[in-house]
Amino acid sequence: MAVDAVIAKSTLPEHSSKTIHVTVNGVPRASTVDARTLLVSYLREHLTLTGTHIGCDTGHCGACTVLVDGKAVKSCMMLAVQTDGCEVRTVEGLEMAGKLHPVQEGFTKEHGLQCGYCTPGMMMTSVALLAKNPNPTEDEIRRGISGNLCRCTGYVNIVKAVQYAAKQMAAAPKGGP
Ligand code: FES
Ligand code: FES
Repeated sequence: MAVDAVIAKSTLPEHSSKTIHVTVNGVPRASTVDARTLLVSYLREHLTLTGTHIGCDTGHCGACTVLVDGKAVKSCMMLAVQTDGCEVRTVEGLEMAGKLHPVQEGFTKEHGLQCGYCTPGMMMTSVALLAKNPNPTEDEIRRGISGNLCRCTGYVNIVKAVQYAAKQMAAAPKGGP
């Protein structure tokens, strides 16, 4: 048994690494990563952007949600090398010139968080939702965030936070966040 294990190990290919070019929160980055590195690990460990959380590591909770080319993705389900040439936005990239993004403002004003663990992922999903549907109904918001789980179950205020952000964004001049 032990010998089989040794043989099996010796036949495994060497782990390859690759240099990727990714723009993260507007900053171009060139990084050499192991081909197996998950996007969430790249963000947290290589770039120390620890605002992106890991909840389940299996694609269920949404705590790790970030935007890749504007699309909300669960970064525990994507390899860093798959983002080569892409634009990635994390929760750290929401604030602009010292001003909170309307979604961040909404979560603050409407008390859209309790422990805060799900919050970065919730906010990134909300940003993607509002980019696609600037005036969502309550039902559309609930469906839009259905891939993000809040263990504190504060969904009522999360919905209010997204509604708050939608109003702010509608009132803002074009070209805002
Ligand atoms: S940590 Fe990625 S979905 Fe839960
Ligand atoms: S606020 Fe605690 S998990 Fe959502």
